[in-house]
Amino acid sequence: MTRHSRARGLTALLVCASAIAACFQPLDRGAARGSSTEGASSQVTDTPTDFATPPIDLDDGGTTKDPCIRTRQRSLAIRQMYCASCHAPPAKFGGFDFVLDDARLASAVSSTSLDDAGKPMRLIIPGKPSESNFYQRVIQGQMPPAVAPPLPPTPTPTVSEFSELHEWIANCLGEKTSPTVNLDAGFARDGGDASP
Ligand code: HEC
Repeated sequence: MTRHSRARGLTALLVCASAIAACFQPLDRGAARGSSTEGASSQVTDTPTDFATPPIDLDDGGTTKDPCIRTRQRSLAIRQMYCASCHAPPAKFGGFDFVLDDARLASAVSSTSLDDAGKPMRLIIPGKPSESNFYQRVIQGQMPPAVAPPLPPTPTPTVSEFSELHEWIANCLGEKTSPTVNLDAGFARDGGDASP
């Protein structure tokens, strides 16, 4: 080892030592203070004490405090925009025409995809987006298909829209849906209807 590199090593050691000292200083001061009524914790008391959920705006101009109402509306709008042209009557691509029908989506199985056990996959398992064939095909970019002649190419949902579909399946579909929520106006439960 040359004298030069030894000197560099020593400098590095000193830098490290002072950095460590600097790290421990705030910890020591915090420990010495003991009580939680001082310093940074005083900022916490500045937060508003009213934790009531602020209302959520709905597309029809109304408001709600139930996030699932908004989520269900968004899910329906997303399916109308990206899926209904092929999967709501009269369109029945892949033998599937009930993309706007929540109850059927939550109970039907795929006509082509099998699960790990070799059984037809559920299209949607409420509470389990990642195990739902519907969700898998959307996030894998298979649905809507990028090219589907003779139809014009369909736009791809945004990442934010993936999140909204995920939230809908995870928390707002099936048994998890509040029975007092009425979002059925505008779409038929039986057979579905692409028109709003
Ligand atoms: C341009 C037409 C078109 C659009 C738009 C479209 N699909 Fe499809 N979809 C198809 C076709 C064709 C099939 C059958 C072939 C296949 O499974 O890939 C299919 C099959 C499916 C299946 C499988 C059904 C089964 O029984 O296994 C699901 C689930 C699905 N689509 C979901 C969606 C969703 C969700 C959207 C909207 C985000 C969507 N699709 C948009 C054409 C479309």
